[in-house]
Amino acid sequence: MTDVNLLLSESLSAIETCVNSSAVEEARITLLGKKGKLTEALKALGQADPEERKNLGAALNQAKEQITSALEAKKNTIADSELNAKLASEKLDVTLPVVGETRGRIHPITQVSEEITAIFADMGFSAKTGPDIEDDEHNFSALNIPESHPARQMHDTFYLQGNGDNKTVLRTHTSPVQIRTMRNGKPPFRFIALGSTYRCDSDLTHTPMFHQIEGLVVGKEINMGHLRGCLSEFLKVFFELDEVPVRFRPSFFPFTEPSAEVDIGCSRSKDSLKIGAGNDWLEIGGCGMVHPNVLKNCGINPNEWQGFAFGMGIERLAMLKYGIPDLRTFFESDIRWLTHYGFDPLHIPSLVGGL
Ligand code: PHE
Repeated sequence: MTDVNLLLSESLSAIETCVNSSAVEEARITLLGKKGKLTEALKALGQADPEERKNLGAALNQAKEQITSALEAKKNTIADSELNAKLASEKLDVTLPVVGETRGRIHPITQVSEEITAIFADMGFSAKTGPDIEDDEHNFSALNIPESHPARQMHDTFYLQGNGDNKTVLRTHTSPVQIRTMRNGKPPFRFIALGSTYRCDSDLTHTPMFHQIEGLVVGKEINMGHLRGCLSEFLKVFFELDEVPVRFRPSFFPFTEPSAEVDIGCSRSKDSLKIGAGNDWLEIGGCGMVHPNVLKNCGINPNEWQGFAFGMGIERLAMLKYGIPDLRTFFESDIRWLTHYGFDPLHIPSLVGGL
């Protein structure tokens, strides 16, 4: 016959000695599991005589309840202390210095290119591209610069392999994109082309690789007034000024007639240059009305269509807008320079809508 009191006290002390949750689970199985001590004792009830079975049954059920709640209580205390131990071991020292994160910067050329594209997009210009390695025909001949023309010398071209029609060059300007785009479509046209250009020239104010933005508008009624208005509007929005004086100085480009150099008003003091009204002028690009020969070379009838074109240096625009004094630093890949003059990648230019 089972000594219920003994079974109970042994069980409670076994539970009491448990030190972790798996020991509690083991104790539960030993006591209340299928083959557990208490389970066996309950099974054995069947053999007891009826009178005794009643008392013993009640005592065993009570013992079972006590054991169950002792197991539950032990389980909770252990879970609490295990959680506390875990929390203590995982605690953070918030006074530790943080490991700095490095964040990249947007190069001023990229920033300014995006600003320019956004402004012209607002004026209805699409953006076109062409290859950096051009053939002689697109870079020169189709732009009304024949083989013997002195203008070829003006460009300090980097020549690559090939000769005759196959001669290739690093494009000396973005104007060949005019030819490619016009030959590939039908007028009217209104687009910009932005990208790297190359000339064999290197000094304080020239780098062998630089960037240009080209613009072309072809329509039936396009005149020089449109050209002036378009550039004035662009410059005002770009420099975020109410007024930017623009001056067209007569010039020569084989692919435009008439041609002009574009100057903007500025004032210079000892070591600063301010864009806007002043008594000085600064050249920022070239422009003109598209030469009839260029239209003809693209299969466009110059008696029906006419247009204007312009080209500007992106580095020059970036230097003026953001006060970057030295052209050559753009291409030195100096991380300190980029940290200083570069732009936050999350910064959204506020220019769009400024028109
Ligand atoms: N392609 C010329 C240059 O690089 C600039 C220009 C473009 C001039 C379009 C007139 C019209 O010097």
